[in-house]
Amino acid sequence: MASRGSSHAALMDEIYRGQRHIYDLTRKYYLFGRDTLIAGLDARPGMRVLELACGTGRNLAKVGKAWPGARLFGLDISAEMLKSARAALGPKARLGQGDACSFDAAALLGEPAFERIVLSYSLSMIPEWERALDQAASLIAPGGSLHVVDFGDLSGLPRPAARLLRAWLARFHVSPREGLPAAARRIAQTRGLMIASRRGPLGYYQLHVLSA
Ligand SMILES: C[S@@+](CC[C@H](N)C(=O)[O-])C[C@H]1O[C@@H](n2cnc3c(N)ncnc32)[C@H](O)[C@@H]1O
Repeated sequence: MASRGSSHAALMDEIYRGQRHIYDLTRKYYLFGRDTLIAGLDARPGMRVLELACGTGRNLAKVGKAWPGARLFGLDISAEMLKSARAALGPKARLGQGDACSFDAAALLGEPAFERIVLSYSLSMIPEWERALDQAASLIAPGGSLHVVDFGDLSGLPRPAARLLRAWLARFHVSPREGLPAAARRIAQTRGLMIASRRGPLGYYQLHVLSA
């Protein structure tokens, strides 16, 4: 990993060394839209499903239950988070450590492309998030799709509540990406993909599906 990547990896490890033990319990109260994304995956048996920045493996475990027979793959930059993912998924998933902005999928995960790719509440933590989004789009297999969920513009929340939420998220190095809809459209257009986007209630989350 390049030095910028390794210092980001160290930061993620620092944040999640302790947090990973309470992550799934606490995040279910504010990382909304993840189950909507999983329900919309339509991952049929044999399909390769990759979650970039998979964290504790919570989403992959749910994908495995919702879509039996899907082949599960996960990547994360944090060795700490991967300890939780390995414990949660065991041999059900192939996991690798790497930077979602630049990694060799074939070398790390044994596959060059995936029928379903997931980015869930990770672009808001990745400094070079547009690169990560483009890298994800480059790994879509023919007929496949990339599914992204993350914080939205929060515009339906009362302003003080939105300000408090942003300040609290910033403590965890999380920044809602207001430029995400435009970046997703631009990447879809450049790569000849179709795009469908929706906004969660109150603009709390945004969901984008880029399809080949
Ligand atoms: C808020 S958690 C989301 C975890 C999971 N996707 C979910 O929905 O619960 C963000 C995750 O992104 C990972 N991450 C941050 N930057 C990354 C990068 N550049 N490459 C890969 N993973 C990264 C962190 O280690 C962490 O596991």
